[in-house]
Amino acid sequence: MNIVQTGNGIRNFKDTGLAARKVDFTEIPQIDFGPMSSNDIADRLRVAAELKDACTNVGFFYLKNHGVPQHVIDATFDAARRFFATPFEEKMRVHISHSKNHRGYGPLLEENTDPTAKGDLHEAFDLSLDIPADDAEVLAGHTLHGPNVWPEDLPNFREPLTRYYDEMILLGRRIFQAFALALELDENFFAPKITRPGSSMRVLYYPPQEGAIDEKQIGIGAHSDYECFTILAQGGDIEALQVLNASGDWISAPPIPGAFVVNIGDQMARWSNDLFKSTLHRVINRSGRERYSIPFFYGCDYATVLTPLPNCVDDEHPAKYEPVTAYEYVSGRFAETYGYFRKEES
Ligand code: OGA
Ligand code: NI
Repeated sequence: MNIVQTGNGIRNFKDTGLAARKVDFTEIPQIDFGPMSSNDIADRLRVAAELKDACTNVGFFYLKNHGVPQHVIDATFDAARRFFATPFEEKMRVHISHSKNHRGYGPLLEENTDPTAKGDLHEAFDLSLDIPADDAEVLAGHTLHGPNVWPEDLPNFREPLTRYYDEMILLGRRIFQAFALALELDENFFAPKITRPGSSMRVLYYPPQEGAIDEKQIGIGAHSDYECFTILAQGGDIEALQVLNASGDWISAPPIPGAFVVNIGDQMARWSNDLFKSTLHRVINRSGRERYSIPFFYGCDYATVLTPLPNCVDDEHPAKYEPVTAYEYVSGRFAETYGYFRKEES
């Protein structure tokens, strides 16, 4: 089997035999996660088979019946709306550069997710696992762990975001379990590697873009995500997220009520020796309305060494990546995206 580098930088397996199909997807698969709670392994294996199909061919899927209460999601969107509506100076008091560990507010145009573009048209608020600054692992370095930061005068913000974060940690563990089955590993393979995961959550605000649009200045430029996978909630009924298929067509991934969008990130692609695809995506909000979204980037413990998994490597598929720790990988990618982070690291 050959690996083909397309013009868009996405790698695809070219079908030269029985080993793999190249599917040019035109829509994002929808997966019912309910049977993952079944005590019958046959039910769980069925979910895993659907996941495997989605992850090897598309890298994106909708997750239905995920078990996260809708009121938790709604409360977080409500908190996001109230935060972004506060005066700019208030938001700047928790600017992300004041944090040693990448927490807080990112204003419009400060990120540049696609390095060939001119800056992203979104605002962000970032949090992660809340770990005290005097924690041994934090003091030892090689981690982005540390304390969260919160706006001082915004009631009912920290609570809903923290609750949402905790729900994602639990849901993500179950997704890892399903991925382990999909990769024909022990169901608990990932569990010891996500005891204190490097997982960040953002609430994002995308103002509407009107008139002629410069492709180099959109809500979020074309990129792949850095961690193992991303669980995304899209607010309202706004169609803005797009996913690139192998032919170079942008496929729309509109919100489906009650479903998350989940996509594979680069760490999982590396770990699976590119069996699972980390697919380029972008956001353009041309709806005329304000858009909010909540991505949760599930990583593994920062010290985890990402070595291509044994059953993803054989004579036909030699290991494509050098082992790297999750921290080395993610901090390198952050430095490409965030100007403030580069300045601090150098
Ligand atoms: C991201 C991302 C999509 C969205 O933050 O990496 O792709 O809908 N977000 O906000
Ligand atoms: Ni993304």
